[in-house]
Amino acid sequence: MEAGRRPAPTTAPKIMVTITRKIEFSASHLYHNPTFSAEKNRRVFGKCNNPHGHGHNYTLEVTIVGEPDAKTGMVLDLVELKELMEREVMQRMDHRFLNYEVAELKGMIPTCENIATVIWNLLEPKIRQGKLHRVRLYEAPDLFADCTDDARREKN
Ligand code: NI
Repeated sequence: MEAGRRPAPTTAPKIMVTITRKIEFSASHLYHNPTFSAEKNRRVFGKCNNPHGHGHNYTLEVTIVGEPDAKTGMVLDLVELKELMEREVMQRMDHRFLNYEVAELKGMIPTCENIATVIWNLLEPKIRQGKLHRVRLYEAPDLFADCTDDARREKN
């Protein structure tokens, strides 16, 4: 070996990377808290308290963190992730009235925050490679909620 040259590392350093998959779905919702008066419901929720609901085109980004596999270069099987999102989110929520047709949202106000949390809980136990890092749900291009491990650990 020449002087000053370091030997090549025998193993590559472990670098964690995130990978994100995005899907879009459409759904209706209504904001209404039965413990509030009609007046308070209107005041707190505004237009979102319209009893017939209204729709949104949601964009969901699911981010997995992990170390790329040495043989495939991938953190996880992206086809598997796509199928998981299709099964757990699209089949459950696309073209549904979230208040009445999604059991996991029963008794909750289906806000962007609550839907993102429900999606986290549906996906997290089923990720077999890597780890769920973030669920980002856009209700509109200028409004989104993030559910992350860090956010879930925050306590007031
Ligand atoms: Ni809305």
